[in-house]
Parts: sequence; C-alpha cells; structure tokens
Amino acid sequence: MLVEAIGLTKHFGARGAGVAAVDNVSLAVAEGETLALIGESGCGKSTLGRLLLRLIAGDSGRIKFDGADITDLSQRALRPLRQKMQILFQHPDSSFHPRKTLIASLIEPQRLHLLAPRAAAREKAVRLAVELGLHADILDRYPHQVSGGQLQRIALARVLTLDPKFIVLDEPTSMLDVSVQAQVVSLLRVAQQRYGLTYLFITHDLDLAAAVSDRIAVMYRGRVLEQGPPAKIVDAPEHDYTKRLVSAFRYYLKKD
Ligand SMILES: Nc1ncnc2c1ncn2[C@@H]1O[C@H](COP(=O)(O)OP(=O)(O)O)[C@@H](O)[C@H]1O
Ligand SMILES: [Mg+2]
Repeated sequence: MLVEAIGLTKHFGARGAGVAAVDNVSLAVAEGETLALIGESGCGKSTLGRLLLRLIAGDSGRIKFDGADITDLSQRALRPLRQKMQILFQHPDSSFHPRKTLIASLIEPQRLHLLAPRAAAREKAVRLAVELGLHADILDRYPHQVSGGQLQRIALARVLTLDPKFIVLDEPTSMLDVSVQAQVVSLLRVAQQRYGLTYLFITHDLDLAAAVSDRIAVMYRGRVLEQGPPAKIVDAPEHDYTKRLVSAFRYYLKKD
C-alpha cells in the first residue's frame, strides 16, 4: 500500500464537543490505484485528505506513506516527503497569485523545494504544461486571463513539476462546466498512466466516482461506512446510507 490510514480521528474545536470531523477512519490506497472518497458536503472528506498529507494534525490514529509511519514526523523530516504527496484543490484560482504570471507560479514549487535552478525549473514546467495539452504561450498570462479548465490543467502541471507519487484530488472538477469536467477527468487519467500516480479522488458525485475509480470508499458523518469496487458499491450497497445514495443517483439517471 502506498498510503495507509489506521484509526484516524480528528475533532475541530474542543474535544468531545459535537461529532468528530473524521472518526476512526482506516483505509489504504495501493500504488497506481484511484480510490474515490464519496459523501455529502461536510462529511469530512477534505479533512481526511488533509490528514493523510499531514497538512493538519490528527487527534489519534496512524498514517503511513510508502511503508514508513509519518504520523509523528517533524515538519523538517516531512520536507522531502511533501513533494511526493500533493493536493489539487477544487478552486484552481485559489492556488494562483492573481498578480503573478502563470509561468511564475508554475516554477515556484520547484524553487521552494530547491529542486532546480530557474531555467531548468521553467523548462520542466513548460514541458509538463505542453504534455497536458496547453499552449506554452498562455503561460505568460495572468490567472484571470485563462478559463477555469485551463487553470485546473495548469494547477495539475504545477503539482507534477514535483514528481509526486500520491495526489489528493479534492473535487477537482466540481467548479467546471460539465463539458470541461470530462476533459479534465480524462486528462487526470492520462497523467496517472504517464507519470505513475496514485489518486485519492474526492467527490460528492457517485457517477463520477464510479467512472474514475478502482475502488470507492463511502463516507458519512466522519466515518467510512464501506469500501469496494464501484460495481459492488452500486449493485450491492451494504449500508442504508449507501443504498439511499445509489437510489438517488439511479433516480437522476432515469430522469435524464
Ligand atoms: N478548519 C476547520 N475548523 C473547524 N471546523 C472545520 C474545519 N474544517 C472542517 N471543519 C468541519 O469539519 C466537518 C467536515 O468538513 P470537511 O472535511 O470540509 O467536509 P467535506 O470536505 O466532506 O465537505 C464539517 O463539519 C466542517 O464544518
Ligand atoms: Mg471538501
């Protein structure tokens, strides 16, 4: 397993006050796999993703990455691992400085991680952007001068400049038009193959989860209720919540 969570728990605010955002969650993501994490808004998906990446601290439980227990690593000890574990956010515009050109933002992570001199960093960023189907010309523009779909591609290119192994995709297409969504999803798949990536694909959309994933984990109020291949989750859901989720989506499918 590339990524493993064992009994992860996280409360916000005073302990014992209300329910845990993430409550005793155990899951694992195999190398090269896409695990979809599905559940309604507020059920704890983003919190779980951020816990796995050690972007926030949990209350209890263990996190393993590539065989090593990273739960208690210091920020300094985490530094070399940070580049291997990345996140792609729902709002691509929030990850770009509005007054920096796209190429300047694309180069930054490599510079921060002291990976390459400026010229080499630039060359790599441009190469990745072009491999993701972007024209090199648009990289001289500012974030507001390109479309949401283009910006999400550039955000992906930027993550890829660090040669990550694991990427948390936090609802990466939910802000995009439906037609653009499909393009970004297929691009994510191509990138996964080409660069040997492992994904945690967070979404509230069961159709999307079933289309992109090898396995689905269903989350409800901080807990993972069940996990399995899409066909198993959709055709033989075990929990009442999953059954409701599936029938709601069937209902939508029939209506269309
Ligand atoms: N930084 C935070 N401070 C306090 N509460 C938070 C914070 N982040 C998330 N929460 C709460 O934790 C719960 C899970 O949120 P989140 O992980 O964002 O859910 P999801 O991504 O599934 O929509 C929610 O009740 C949310 O209000
Ligand atoms: Mg979220």
